[in-house]
Amino acid sequence: MATLWPPMACSAKPTVKEESPHASNMESIVLFGPPGAGKGTQAQRIMDSTGLPQVSTGDMLRAAVLAGTNTGIEAKKYMDAGQLVPDDVIIALIKDRIQEGDAKNGVMFDGFPRTIPQADALASITIVSHVIAIEVPDGRIVDRICGRYTCGECSSVYHDTFNPTSTSGVCDTCASTDLKRRADDNAETVLSRLGAYHEQTSPLAKWYESKGIFHRIDGDRAIDDITTDILLVLR
Ligand code: AP5
Ligand code: MG
Repeated sequence: MATLWPPMACSAKPTVKEESPHASNMESIVLFGPPGAGKGTQAQRIMDSTGLPQVSTGDMLRAAVLAGTNTGIEAKKYMDAGQLVPDDVIIALIKDRIQEGDAKNGVMFDGFPRTIPQADALASITIVSHVIAIEVPDGRIVDRICGRYTCGECSSVYHDTFNPTSTSGVCDTCASTDLKRRADDNAETVLSRLGAYHEQTSPLAKWYESKGIFHRIDGDRAIDDITTDILLVLR
C-alpha cells in the first residue's frame, strides 16, 4: 500500500496551439471562493457537464514551480508565504493558456481572478457568464486544507476524513498511487491565504454582483449537494 508523503501537514495533455481565439467566441465560468472552499473539487465534477476545461492558476503555478521555470521561481516565494502572486505574472499565464485549442469556446476558471486588475484583464479576454461563489465559513477551512491530498497524475482532490479514496493510497479516478500533499497546506500558510482572500479577493464579489452574474452556493454541505446546486445554476 502506498503511503502519503509528507504525512499530515498540520501537525505543524499536451495541448495544441491554435490561432488566437477571438474574445467574443468565448463564454467562461469563474469558480470563486476562499482557499479550501472546494473550487478544485467541484471543477472536476462539473467539467463534463459544462464541456469547459478547468483552468486553475494554482495548478499552473505549481507546475511552473516543479518545472523550475522563471515564472515558477518568481511565484514560489509568494506561494510559500500564502500571498498572492503579482498580477502581471498571473495575467501573462492566463493570456498564454487561453490560446490553447481546448479554450476556444471558453473555460472554467478556478482561483482566477483574485484581484480587480485580474478581473479587468479577464473582461478583455472572455465573456464571463457565471461567477459561482462557493461559500464556506473560515472556521471550516483549516481542517479542510490540512487533510487534503491530491493525485499527482490526474489532480483529483481528496481529504483524509471528508473525502478519502475508496482504497487507501490509490486514486479512485486513475488508479495512480502518486498521492501528494501541497507544500502550502499547513496551518500557518492557510491563515495568510485566508487573509489575502478577505483583503484582496472578496471585494470582487460586489464587482460581479453589480453585473448580475454572481451566484452564491452554500459550500458547507455534502460535496454531491453542492455539485447539484452548481449545475442547477448553470442549466
Ligand atoms: P490555489 O491552488 O488556487 O489555492 P486556493 O485558492 O488557496 O484554493 P485551494 O486549491 O486551496 O482550495 P479549493 O477551493 O480548490 O478546495 P479543494 O477542492 O482543493 O492557489 C495556491 C496559491 O497560488 C495561492 O495562495 C497564491 O499564492 C497563488 N495563486 C493562485 N492563483 C492566483 C491568482 N489568480 N492570483 C495570485 N496568486 C494566485 O478542497 C479542499 C479540501 O476540502 C480537499 O481536501 C477536499 O477533498 C475537501 N472538500 C471539498 N469540498 C468539501 C465539502 N463540501 N465538504 C468537506 N470537504 C470538502
Ligand atoms: Mg484548488
